[in-house]
Amino acid sequence: MPRTAIVALGTYVPDRVVTNEELTRSMETSDAWIQERTGIRERHWIPAGVEVDNSTLALEATNRALAKAGWQAKDIEAIVYASLSPDHMFPGDGCFLNAKLGIPGVPAIDIRNQCSGFIYGLAVADAWIRIGMYRRVLLVGSEIHSTGIDVSTRGRDVAVIFGDGAGAALLEATDEPGRGVLSCHLHADGRFAEDLYCEAPGSKYHPRVSAEMITSGRVWPRMEGQKVFKHAITKMPEVMREALGKNGLSPGDLKVVIPHQANLRISQMVQRGLELRDDQVFNNIQRYGNTTAASIPIALAEAVEERGIRRGDLVGLCAFGAGFTWASALVRW
Ligand code: ACO
Repeated sequence: MPRTAIVALGTYVPDRVVTNEELTRSMETSDAWIQERTGIRERHWIPAGVEVDNSTLALEATNRALAKAGWQAKDIEAIVYASLSPDHMFPGDGCFLNAKLGIPGVPAIDIRNQCSGFIYGLAVADAWIRIGMYRRVLLVGSEIHSTGIDVSTRGRDVAVIFGDGAGAALLEATDEPGRGVLSCHLHADGRFAEDLYCEAPGSKYHPRVSAEMITSGRVWPRMEGQKVFKHAITKMPEVMREALGKNGLSPGDLKVVIPHQANLRISQMVQRGLELRDDQVFNNIQRYGNTTAASIPIALAEAVEERGIRRGDLVGLCAFGAGFTWASALVRW
């Protein structure tokens, strides 16, 4: 049975850099508070007041990955698109990306698993590749958070955390012994669905969105920050250990772990929970904020360059996010 190799990664973030200091102009916060609680110094947001498609960010990231791999868009046999911030309720952005890439007929599936979206998407793509359904799959995580957060003091706990961006991974079947995705591990616990969620617009309401929902802030994401924090620091090490155990490996075997970039303090607790050295964990949330489904591919792309990940190295991915959902994957590079 073939395995899934990550052939190339591409990333894209908008040019606009929003510093913590800039946020202090619209809400009561401070650079010191944000850095101390989250580690974030700045994030990239699309230009204010300008329409930018989520799938345009994804297209930019995909084109960079294609150039690195030496592939053409027509080489892609299927698209897996992870996002919590799609441009429309339907159809999913996978279809819009299909059109932008000019590959009509190529299937596109959208994954709605928030911060765990990239790993859930990897599990889907990996299953397709293993059973021989497709040999070359594009997996992309892309988010535009900046148009969906309350940048007044009311929304400051959420607004300071999130950034816009996209990361794309080109996946290909490999028969090389030992290489590729070793396993993926997925979990969810919907009892916590409303502890990190965006209530409206929603199809259960008549109408789906109302002026009251907008003025009362029900259209903005809400988060029980401390609850999210406590679950994230437990579940991420646990699910990473699950992956290692399944493959008869231990934390010492890892070249590097790419934790979903939720919050620097969460990553530090994950590191402690897995008893990893500093050089075994890669973080870049300081410059991008939390880009949700895009955070792992953006960090992985940088880690490949900065940490010199080479053929044969063991790379761990783990995530936790809204749902609650959590997931891990092990990749032999
Ligand atoms: N600037 C200044 N003060 C703030 C801000 C802000 N941006 N946000 C909240 N505060 C205030 C609160 O109002 C509160 O004030 P009070 O004491 O007068 O009531 C005070 O700071 C402390 O608030 P807490 O919520 O207790 O602060 P905490 O230390 O828990 O930090 C944070 C909040 C950063 C959200 C933290 O809970 C956290 O990191 N949680 C994890 C959430 C996360 O990572 N989410 C990412 C999305 S999900 C994911 O990717 C896993």
